[in-house]
Amino acid sequence: MHDPLSGVIDLDPRSGKTLVQQLCDRLREAILAGHLQPGQHLPSSRQLARRLKVSRNTVSFAVEQLAMEGYFHVAQGRRPTVAAVARSSPASGAPLHRASRAIQVSRWAERLSRSDWPFEQEGAPRPFSPGLADAREFPHDLWARCLRRAARNADRASMVGVNRPGLRVALLRHLAEHRGVKAAAHQLVITPSAQSAIELIARTIVDQDDTAWLESPGYGGARAAFEAVGARILGVGLDDRGLSIAKRIDRPRLIFVTPSHQYPTGRLMPVSRRQELLGFAASAGAVIIEDDYDSEFHYDGRPVASLQGLDRGNTVFYVGTLSKSTFADIRVGYAIVPESLVTIFERAQRHGGQIVAASVQDALADFINEGYLAQHIRKMARLYRARRDRLVQALKAAAGDRLEVMPPAGGMQLLAYLRAHDDDRTITTRLAEAGVTVRPLSRHFVGEAAGQGLFLGFAAWNEREIDAGADVIGRIISTPAEAASKRSSRPVPAGRVGKAPSRRSRRRSNRHAGA
Ligand SMILES: Cc1ncc(COP(=O)(O)O)c(C=O)c1O
Repeated sequence: MHDPLSGVIDLDPRSGKTLVQQLCDRLREAILAGHLQPGQHLPSSRQLARRLKVSRNTVSFAVEQLAMEGYFHVAQGRRPTVAAVARSSPASGAPLHRASRAIQVSRWAERLSRSDWPFEQEGAPRPFSPGLADAREFPHDLWARCLRRAARNADRASMVGVNRPGLRVALLRHLAEHRGVKAAAHQLVITPSAQSAIELIARTIVDQDDTAWLESPGYGGARAAFEAVGARILGVGLDDRGLSIAKRIDRPRLIFVTPSHQYPTGRLMPVSRRQELLGFAASAGAVIIEDDYDSEFHYDGRPVASLQGLDRGNTVFYVGTLSKSTFADIRVGYAIVPESLVTIFERAQRHGGQIVAASVQDALADFINEGYLAQHIRKMARLYRARRDRLVQALKAAAGDRLEVMPPAGGMQLLAYLRAHDDDRTITTRLAEAGVTVRPLSRHFVGEAAGQGLFLGFAAWNEREIDAGADVIGRIISTPAEAASKRSSRPVPAGRVGKAPSRRSRRRSNRHAGA
């Protein structure tokens, strides 16, 4: 008689799996592949055990398990029979699923797939990847001590809180002191990143076809979050004082701004424009997202207090992140939510599962309360300021005739405008090939690019790395090479947006910085 199991069941006593698990796997595969047909009897457990050189118990346990899963019918005193199960092997001629079947995604996912953000993987960080803090300078031992302490206390503390009260209080005290925010602790919501806070706000505030204003050039992450919820994105240009409030354009539901270091130009929004913006948002019934992503690092003059601290109208969501003031692995962001929206926002947070581990929150509270965060920020502000100056000097020396470098008053990155009609994307590609990462300014605009430049992070690189990177930029930028032939022949459209402000207006803007 043909043995349907011959060559099908091969058990390996040295495999990491138990014999029962292996036997279950093989029998399942044999049924799905059609080697065992519906209605067919298995050999008796005694016969099978003898043939496979295993105990009868092993066979009985495996058969019981597969009967429970629905692969066999078993009845007292009878041999198990194979149940009617569809075959999934192509060899059977009737595949259950075709591997290549395209799965229909939601409209939300379709919109995501069309989004220009995030930028394609740039590989391992290297000069001058923007947005990176220097992890080499972070006090990892102190952080490890706080983490250990929090982990040890984890069983005693009730770890159920989504937003840990201790961190709310510690972080709020820090933000009130350093950024002038005004809020009660329960308004602070702790998220896994600033991006997740922005995404939650978008979902909580925006309906399909609502208008969202975005600075142009501006932060692609915010744009992606608003597009995903179906917002109509309106790029709003910048003038010397930041987002230019043009009352004739569509009334917004949401306005996204980076007033302390405009992303990516680094411009500062002076207090007069902040007040204007708050007044406009209140009259338009809009809410504002203030993204204060790296504003703890301020180098020239006194830092300007947050927009949120000026708000009397319950209109500002203040968003920030620890990934810049500490280092990229501390995935903790936060939002200060207008009082009237706290309940619904916390519900949205719970639904989205945008929760940071309680032990990490507790460790961070400890890190702040011990004074380590403030100490680290002070140290890094000195270091980053020196690196900013170094990069400005090095770029001027290497490519001053082709780049107009804009030293930012703070933050971790700077913009250098291309003086000639060079194409920033071509230059970015050539630099990438030469081992240097920059981002092209033109990719940051909503709609047509109205400026060409290179956006560079300086915080994470030491002087040697900065000098070497700047040399590469100088070499690439002054070599026409084949890039010349690929250069865009389109003239750069005229406009205020994205162009370097005049020296006079820069001075004016910096004076407001101290206001
Ligand atoms: C302007 C701006 N906002 C927000 C973020 C997001 O921060 P996080 O890493 O916490 O999501 C970034 C990240 O680089 C940023 O550049």
